[in-house]
Amino acid sequence: MTFLRIDPLTPEFLTAVAELDKSSLGGIWSLDNYRREMESPNSDLLVLSLIPRRPENRDSRRDPLGHPPDPSPILVGVGCLWSILEEAHITLLAIAPNYQGQGLGQAMLYQLLFCAWQRQLEWATLEVRVSNTPAISLYKKFGFQDVGRRRRYYQDTGEDALILWRYGLHHPGFQNWLAEWKPQICDRLTRSGFRI
Ligand SMILES: CC(C)(COP(=O)(O)OP(=O)(O)OC[C@H]1O[C@@H](n2cnc3c(N)ncnc32)[C@H](O)[C@@H]1OP(=O)(O)O)[C@@H](O)C(=O)NCCC(=O)NCCS
Repeated sequence: MTFLRIDPLTPEFLTAVAELDKSSLGGIWSLDNYRREMESPNSDLLVLSLIPRRPENRDSRRDPLGHPPDPSPILVGVGCLWSILEEAHITLLAIAPNYQGQGLGQAMLYQLLFCAWQRQLEWATLEVRVSNTPAISLYKKFGFQDVGRRRRYYQDTGEDALILWRYGLHHPGFQNWLAEWKPQICDRLTRSGFRI
């Protein structure tokens, strides 16, 4: 079982997050972009990291010989939202290619929606490439609806963006929705060998 955490981005992960951006998203944000988001009070910039297990005989608390410290966490996911008036604009969501398809993306999206709810925002929205079937499927699973299209939105390929919305974050039922989804998120992670 590998432990994982979802936390706000901190400076020691800046380089790792920029590398993840390159491998999963083709490099959309620079280090400066991440630094700015990290410091912005209107952004929730989260990273998902795995905590490797320490070898059995390497308990640093009881090791007078100064054996190596615990292994560093491995950053495998990133997500960001901007809080704009009543809106949570999801600007970023990515899981490292080798870790996709194991429930990490939905754990990250769940946490972003939770942050949006904590900020008392009313809806979430985002743009996604029309060809990005895995992401569209994930967002629809979480109640996002297709509300329109931005023609030729992506400069690299000229591809259209779908505009997706998730309404009702401020409705009383949304808190129940969060509560109902939590065990499902955790079960999916457990089946992949992760514990949050
Ligand atoms: C989109 C992305 C974040 C999904 O993360 P993930 O960890 O692979 O997804 P999960 O394992 O949590 O899967 C959750 C849901 O996503 C959808 N999904 C994930 N992979 C899929 C695939 N290959 N095909 C279709 N749907 C898929 C499914 O709805 C899945 O639910 P299910 O397992 O009940 O069918 C990930 O593929 C990614 O980082 N892609 C590259 C970056 C990107 O495109 N980001 C989105 C930009 S808007």
